[in-house]
Amino acid sequence: MAKMEAKTSLLDNMIGVGDMVLLEPLNEDSFINNLKKRFDHNEVYTYIGSVVISINPYRPLPIYSPEKVEEYRNRNFYELSPHIFALSDEAYRSLRDQDKDQCILITGESGAGKTEASKLVMSYVAAVCGKGAEVNQVKEQLLQSNPVLEAFGNAKTVRNDNSSRFGKYMDIEFDFKGDPLGGVISNYLLEKSRVVKQPRGERNFHIFYQILSGASEDFLCKLKLERDFSRYNYLGLDSARVNGVDDAANFRTVRNAMQIVGFMDHETQSVFEVVAAVLKLGNIEFKPESRVNGLDESKIKDKNELKEICELTGIDQSVLERAFSFRTVEAKQEKVSTTLNVAQAYYARDALAKNLYSRLFSWLVTRINESIKAQTKVRKKVMGVLDIYGFEIFEDNSFEQFIINYCNEKLQQIFIELTLKEEQEEYIREGIEWTHIEYFNNAIICDLIENNQTGILAMLDEECLRPGTVTDETFLEKLNQVCATHQHFESRMSKCLRFLNDTSLPHSCFRIQHYAGKVMYQVEGFVDKNNDLLYRDLSQAMWKASHSLIKALFPEGNPAKINLKRPPTAGSQFKASVTTLMKNLQTKNPNYIRCIKPNDKKAAHVFNDALVCHQIRYLGLLENVRVRRAGYAFRQAYEPCLERYKMLCKQTWPHWRGPARAGVEVLFNELEIPEEEFSFGRSKIFIRNPRTLFKLEDLRKQRLEDLATLIEKIYRGWKCRTRFLLMKKSQIVIASWYRRYAQQKKYQKIKSSAIIVQSYIRGWKARKLLRELKHQKRCNEAATTIAAYWRGTQVRREYRKFFRANAGRKIYEFTLQRIMQKYFLEMKNKMPSLSPIDKNWPARPYLFLDSTHKELKRIFHLWRCKKYRDQFTDQQKLIYEEKLEASELFKDKKALYPASVGQPFQGAYLEISKNPKYKKLKDAVDEKIIIAEVVNKINRANGKATSRIFLLTKNNVLLADQKSGNIKSEVPLGDVTKVSMSSQNDGFFAVHLKEGSGAAGKGDFLFSSDHLIEMATKLYRTTLSQTKQKLNIEISDEFLVQFRQDKVCVKFIQGSQKNGNIPTCKRKNNRLLEVAVP
Ligand SMILES: Nc1ncnc2c1ncn2[C@@H]1O[C@H](COP(=O)(O)OP(=O)(O)OP(=O)(O)O)[C@@H](O)[C@H]1O
Ligand SMILES: [Mg+2]
Repeated sequence: MAKMEAKTSLLDNMIGVGDMVLLEPLNEDSFINNLKKRFDHNEVYTYIGSVVISINPYRPLPIYSPEKVEEYRNRNFYELSPHIFALSDEAYRSLRDQDKDQCILITGESGAGKTEASKLVMSYVAAVCGKGAEVNQVKEQLLQSNPVLEAFGNAKTVRNDNSSRFGKYMDIEFDFKGDPLGGVISNYLLEKSRVVKQPRGERNFHIFYQILSGASEDFLCKLKLERDFSRYNYLGLDSARVNGVDDAANFRTVRNAMQIVGFMDHETQSVFEVVAAVLKLGNIEFKPESRVNGLDESKIKDKNELKEICELTGIDQSVLERAFSFRTVEAKQEKVSTTLNVAQAYYARDALAKNLYSRLFSWLVTRINESIKAQTKVRKKVMGVLDIYGFEIFEDNSFEQFIINYCNEKLQQIFIELTLKEEQEEYIREGIEWTHIEYFNNAIICDLIENNQTGILAMLDEECLRPGTVTDETFLEKLNQVCATHQHFESRMSKCLRFLNDTSLPHSCFRIQHYAGKVMYQVEGFVDKNNDLLYRDLSQAMWKASHSLIKALFPEGNPAKINLKRPPTAGSQFKASVTTLMKNLQTKNPNYIRCIKPNDKKAAHVFNDALVCHQIRYLGLLENVRVRRAGYAFRQAYEPCLERYKMLCKQTWPHWRGPARAGVEVLFNELEIPEEEFSFGRSKIFIRNPRTLFKLEDLRKQRLEDLATLIEKIYRGWKCRTRFLLMKKSQIVIASWYRRYAQQKKYQKIKSSAIIVQSYIRGWKARKLLRELKHQKRCNEAATTIAAYWRGTQVRREYRKFFRANAGRKIYEFTLQRIMQKYFLEMKNKMPSLSPIDKNWPARPYLFLDSTHKELKRIFHLWRCKKYRDQFTDQQKLIYEEKLEASELFKDKKALYPASVGQPFQGAYLEISKNPKYKKLKDAVDEKIIIAEVVNKINRANGKATSRIFLLTKNNVLLADQKSGNIKSEVPLGDVTKVSMSSQNDGFFAVHLKEGSGAAGKGDFLFSSDHLIEMATKLYRTTLSQTKQKLNIEISDEFLVQFRQDKVCVKFIQGSQKNGNIPTCKRKNNRLLEVAVP
């Protein structure tokens, strides 16, 4: 996979051309068209050789993910499509592996994406360089320095919502392994005028808004601030809020970043105090106050704000107040104090605010540097990242633009120098003849600006230091004198000298023809801005502050170190720092990122040709391409070149065995490329024109298509063949399996047929043998029988004479005896069980034994019954006798009887002796109780039932109340004549009494009881044993009873199931009592 990837190239799937060097024809239109085409396809990066042109997409693109980082990691520059990561990787690897210090120069106009690009470079390098806790902390600190500096040094402008208002150069330092050690940041020319005044639609530095939006009430109170932006004169109001920017959240980010970078809490606090002081300074206002000498003196209108500032910063209020009203000028050991008028007071106030802020910013940079500086003293490798303002050409260009454009001239120069130097070095290294390249060298413009004697900056300084009245006009005059003849300098005067009247040039301006275009500068403000004056009284007031940070910011205020020499001018300071920067850059290997802004609206997908054209011009990009193409447009090491084009020649395809260079030579000869079109370097082939490269590319494409067809053809053939072979193989396997199966089947069939035939034959043989054996046996038996008969005949014939008279009888008896014997022996074995109810009896064997058999059965039954009875105890005997009696009385007569067979006869169901309720009853009865049971006595009058205790003793029947136990009636057994009951399944019975007896006064009793059978039996048995007379028991469904004088018929009828299974009794009339039995 990795190997395949390694063969990709920038030239693959190119949209337009990925490298402008290959642009054909090369002119401005084609250049812009190429950029536009790529931009429209989301390709925002394009190369000019090793320079990356980046067009701001103004929207997040998915090309910065960790996967992308991995994709570009350790790949050659031209291997993948152009990307800022490719450049970063190249720079980092060259730093790590070849020990070359690197610098990455990012230029472009405001909003072109420089700062974003610099962050991308840093994040890429952070992602690919070493890992580990310590290294990660260094990385984190380096990366987190960005938000801090952006908060203090960036602001919303009309061109960019996050415009860097300072130039930044950051050296990232690495050890020999390529692990980051630390860094150093340099800052250039903060646009401090913004602190006091912002153009329309722009804001002050972010930090002011961030504090007011994001700080807690508490914190604001400490800083003596109010949340309302409109309270502060220094905050332009028309665009205080920026779309998509959350100042409050950013404030938290900044504080967090400050913490990570290593700011102590008190330092952070001090920093914000200074910011607050600056903000509050803007609210100090002055009013004129006439003085005796007739001059106006300025006085502070409202001292409240001043008081708060002084409290915040620990400055003596009177000192500061005085500094806003007076100015001390020291000349020749004389101190002269002059009053300030209102305008001067405002100037002083603003100058203080600007100075305070810009010094704070520089202090921040120094403080960050302290934190991020490398901790070791080992030799370091350095990668510098320069994010600096690009050329600025506005309607009104002032001192700042002049300085910025000067810086860009210098950068262009170093670019030309280094690019050409590199180009030249490469040619020498590769042994290619160096031909002089025509290009524009801007050294002359640099000289115009920075020449120590005649340079514009020198003039300006001279003018500023000159005694007497110095104005911007005098400065212009001076310029006119000195530079008039310079070919890149123009002013109304110089033009006149050349007899060219240029009315487009106002009197107060001069024009410089920069390498990137002409820029007209307004001379107004040059002197002031260059002087950058802060009245000494103010710096001294600041130095006296008890706030340690503010004190440190104004060291020149220390009276002990008073220095009458003027501080260096802004111009000379900048020149010095640019010179240092250039020197620094010259020692490093440069890498360029040229940022282009596609439109003025900060809009995605919009490509404004005119705007881009303008930038291309002043960035000198065409110039870039020309320089790069001056000798040879394209170069490539032999190996990748041969690898890429080897298919174009028979000798080199598919493998070239010799050295790569020889291969390329053969290849180029074969392709008949004109000799002037290429040169062979030591390790690279140099191609003069892109045309040739494209021709090669076209041929390659064509050839690749042919090869693809060939590969496809071979692959298809191979695929078909393999498929065919596979199918053939499969067919053989299937056929062999089928044959085997068929043969198995056939064999099984033959085998089973053989077995059948065999079995038939065997069967036939066996049957034949059996028949023969049977025949033989029958023959033998027949012979024996015949012999036996014959012998018998002979014996009978012999013995007939002795036994003829009684032989028959004897045989008969003997036979009979034998039969009897056999019968009894068999009977013995077949005897049934001893259970009296076992009905089994063996079958009778002979008819003549019928009566014997029956008799034996009867005897056996009687015997086993006796045996069974013999086991009984006396008590059991009594019970069975009673049951027997019941059986004799009721079996097959009363339907209730079968149910009673299983119930044991208990007699005394009611345990009178144990129940204290019945004590009286018990005492009244002194005989043995045979029955004690609760019965229903049927009311003679209405047939309703009442419970009564029924007692049977040896001599009497007693009826007692169930509740009280009081005896109701007593009937001697001799008075009971009959007991009547139905044949049905009911418990009704009538006890008939002897007429005229004492108990019969009310007539017969009609009862109903569940234990009818037992009661009747016991009554019968007791009566029998007492009176020696059998009690008459009548079983009939209709009988008469005597109720007092009436004879009433009790009739049992089949009743309905209405009342369940309980028989109901009803008195129908005088004569009839009906019992319905269900
Ligand atoms: N590669 C990018 N991808 C997406 N958006 C980008 C990219 N580069 C820049 N931008 C957008 O453009 C805006 C301006 O970019 P940036 O601040 O880097 O410009 P600049 O060149 O540094 O401008 P200035 O000179 O004013 O500081 C960013 O805030 C961001 O919204
Ligand atoms: Mg920026």
